[in-house]
Amino acid sequence: MHANDYIFPTNFKWGAAASATQTEGSANDENKAKNIWDYWYQLNPERFHEGVGPMKTSDFYQRYTEDIKRMKAIHLNSFRTSISWSRLLPDGINVNGEAVSFYQKMFDQLIEHGIEPIVNLFHFDMPLLMQEKGGWESLEVVEAFNYYAHTAFELFGEKIKRWTTFNEPIVPVEMGYLNHYHYPCVVDMKRAVVVAYHSMLASAKVIQTYHESNQTGKIGIILNLTPSYPRSDTKGDVKAARIADLFFNRSFLDPSVYGSYPEELTELLRSYDLLPETNQEDLAIIKNNTVDFLGVNYYQPRRVKEREKPYQSDQILPEKFFESYIWPERRMNPYRGWEIYEKGIYDLAINIRDNYGNIPWYVAENGMGVENEERFSDESGMIQDDYRIEFYKEHLKWLHKAIREGSNCFGYHVWTFMDNWSWLNAYKNRYGLYRVDIRTQERSLKKSGQWFGDVARKNGF
Ligand code: BG6
Repeated sequence: MHANDYIFPTNFKWGAAASATQTEGSANDENKAKNIWDYWYQLNPERFHEGVGPMKTSDFYQRYTEDIKRMKAIHLNSFRTSISWSRLLPDGINVNGEAVSFYQKMFDQLIEHGIEPIVNLFHFDMPLLMQEKGGWESLEVVEAFNYYAHTAFELFGEKIKRWTTFNEPIVPVEMGYLNHYHYPCVVDMKRAVVVAYHSMLASAKVIQTYHESNQTGKIGIILNLTPSYPRSDTKGDVKAARIADLFFNRSFLDPSVYGSYPEELTELLRSYDLLPETNQEDLAIIKNNTVDFLGVNYYQPRRVKEREKPYQSDQILPEKFFESYIWPERRMNPYRGWEIYEKGIYDLAINIRDNYGNIPWYVAENGMGVENEERFSDESGMIQDDYRIEFYKEHLKWLHKAIREGSNCFGYHVWTFMDNWSWLNAYKNRYGLYRVDIRTQERSLKKSGQWFGDVARKNGF
């Protein structure tokens, strides 16, 4: 081995991530009920980039057989996606046989091709029926989610050995209840805190259900961890970073791994009368049902400073306690407007190693979005995305260093396998290893797909 080789542990998972609503299409199938995205698109199509909604996306529901062959062609040994709750249980109770057959066949084909499916249960796609009952604000929906999870375990548990309860539970909280971005477009900290707490309760209940049934796999959660860096080491800046970390990372990380909330967070919420209603029984469920592993999505860090500008809102929102800050050395993704900071992946790995019991974890998403990516195609039509190769390579080097230093990381998943539809951004930011022509649905390998396939085959680079 050369000094510059980055070879990963044996059996390392090289994969790609996706989610049901972003890829399946066939959203209007008569057997599938609406989720909040289908519904919201009907109400406000103009909210979605170029008016493109979740109806067709990349048509994985129809094309999975060919797509799985494409995964195999680039040597992936893992694929993480989600099940659509509103497709599997359109009325919340009765199973949709067509959906069962789709998921069974898709999982079987993955396994036949040596690709492990890692299956997530909730990726932002609340069934409309459940939103009408109050979404995550409602304990009835928490129970309904547990029922859905139980059904999924019974149906697919023999094939699926790694499950996750949620993808990025902060997103519905922040986007849906703090900044008027996702449906139901509420700005209300008190309600946001309830949504966050009930998500954790739902996750713990599902973990309990899994561990108490005859399942033989593992179950975890996927969190988007954003390392929180202070502007300086002054007391004010450090505190600002610590509070941002409490709100955006630790309010999910601590209950998931330790079954309890950081005291400083609880005290802070209490002092503003924002604590949700809890009871001993539910807190005990959270305490006793922690994750077997973590999935971590990493895109960019958070940089903050002590608040300097007067705080305007009459509500107590997280921003009351810090302001974002532009680091002078910041490097931006020129094609999407997010900071690129590769060392963040190392810092979060070391944080998990040192402060979260070195729990097994994997990178569930890491990727570089690019607007108008067609401009980078060559004469043959191949996207020459050297910028993305560079992005992966530099993140993988930091990840490799963390693993060498004892981090218990078992895999790396790019976001995403093929260009896909993304919530309000629709097809604005392209991330795929494969390009998708959204008019013809034709897929073609990008240069980064070729490169990543090589890395997967060699278990490093
Ligand atoms: C992640 C989500 O946070 O970011 C994905 O899990 C999403 O669902 C991805 O698609 C990229 O977001 P965007 O807005 O750049 O497409």
